[in-house]
Amino acid sequence: MELIIVWYLRMSIIYFVAGAGIGIMMILEPSTAGHYVTSHAHLNLLGFMSMMIYGVGYHILPKFSGRHIYSSRIMHIQFWLANAGLIGLAAGWPLRAGGNAADAAASLLIISAAVTVGSVVLFAVNILKTVKAVQM
Ligand code: HEM
Ligand code: HEM
Repeated sequence: MELIIVWYLRMSIIYFVAGAGIGIMMILEPSTAGHYVTSHAHLNLLGFMSMMIYGVGYHILPKFSGRHIYSSRIMHIQFWLANAGLIGLAAGWPLRAGGNAADAAASLLIISAAVTVGSVVLFAVNILKTVKAVQM
């Protein structure tokens, strides 16, 4: 397995632990849970679930198609965009909800959302250019 794919899987597990930790924290501190629920949801859904799918997909889908990944370079760039975007979103939502530095948090959210969508588009292009029906 390529090192970058191992890192997709490692980051997925790290986000799962972080997402679950915030989940427990929200149960223990219901008064501030609303500040964290969106970060919790996206650490689990974009962090754990999507990052796991990126890693497993990059490993297995080219093999199913009998080909190499369309672009290893895109796979590396996407890794950094997906992680930077998610960390920006996960930090930006509670910062904005907390009211301190709300303007800076709003800007961080817009940039992070664009970076995250960029990472999704790169994944889409890379996988669609890779998968191909195998002649039976
Ligand atoms: C240790 C595990 C987890 C704990 C303790 C936990 C806890 C919580 C809590 C306390 C809330 C807020 C509920 C409320 O609105 O009052 C919540 C919301 C949510 N959780 Fe988790 N959660 C866990 C795992 C997960 C996982 C694995 C996922 C997804 C894969 C997930 C997805 C969500 C989503 C999407 C919401 C927002 C639902 C909404 O829009 O109201 N959670 N969770
Ligand atoms: C492409 C990047 C994404 C961006 C920029 C984004 C942005 C947002 C925003 C702005 C909200 C509303 C937050 C609020 O209530 O203030 C939201 C909510 C939500 N999103 Fe996403 N999202 C993204 C990807 C995803 C994905 C891939 C999933 C599921 C697999 C997802 C699941 C949800 C859920 C369940 C909620 C409701 C959670 C809550 O109650 O706060 N999102 N998202």
